[in-house]
Amino acid sequence: MTESTIKIRLMKPEDFDALVRIDEKVLKASRPEYYEMKFDKLFKSKDFLPTSLVAEDENGAVVGFIMGELYMGEYGIFREEATLDTIGVDPDHQHKGIGKLLIDEFLDHLKTLGVQKINTLVDWNDSKLIHFFSSNRFSPSKSINLERNI
Ligand SMILES: CC(C)(COP(=O)(O)OP(=O)(O)OC[C@H]1O[C@@H](n2cnc3c(N)ncnc32)[C@H](O)[C@@H]1OP(=O)(O)O)[C@@H](O)C(=O)NCCC(=O)NCCS
Repeated sequence: MTESTIKIRLMKPEDFDALVRIDEKVLKASRPEYYEMKFDKLFKSKDFLPTSLVAEDENGAVVGFIMGELYMGEYGIFREEATLDTIGVDPDHQHKGIGKLLIDEFLDHLKTLGVQKINTLVDWNDSKLIHFFSSNRFSPSKSINLERNI
């Protein structure tokens, strides 16, 4: 399989099982509740514009996905910033350019909607993921995420 046989399309509610399966393979832990919450937000709320995408192989199997949020404010005015929540590529199909393809299509789509900046949170210790985002031209922002145990 090469990236030229990969098709990127908008995510549909029917993709739920495929996403949970890929996420489980990537993280080695199942978290369907997280995706139930995300899908409710993405497909049942009118406040968010559909931007999440999946990658299909030549047989129509979902091998990767990217989820983001673009909040549609009052009067349908888009915010200029969007977020990228989750990206995942089936470990059997990684290192073939699918992750890059998903990011490129996701950003192209957001650009046509007027979005000028995209944010994502990455674990400081996840050096592989930081490297991936860095090679896709993401860089550290000027705000930092503060936390405190309570
Ligand atoms: C990060 C992630 C999305 C990357 O997906 P991917 O499809 O492997 O991404 P790409 O193929 O575009 O790029 C990965 C690497 O493969 C290399 N590559 C791309 N096409 C290639 C090809 N044809 N041949 C060889 N290498 C290639 C890229 O140069 C890149 O290398 P680099 O990271 O050293 O720069 C994937 O590893 C993943 O899902 N990780 C887990 C993410 C996670 O924790 N998500 C939260 C839960 S789902």
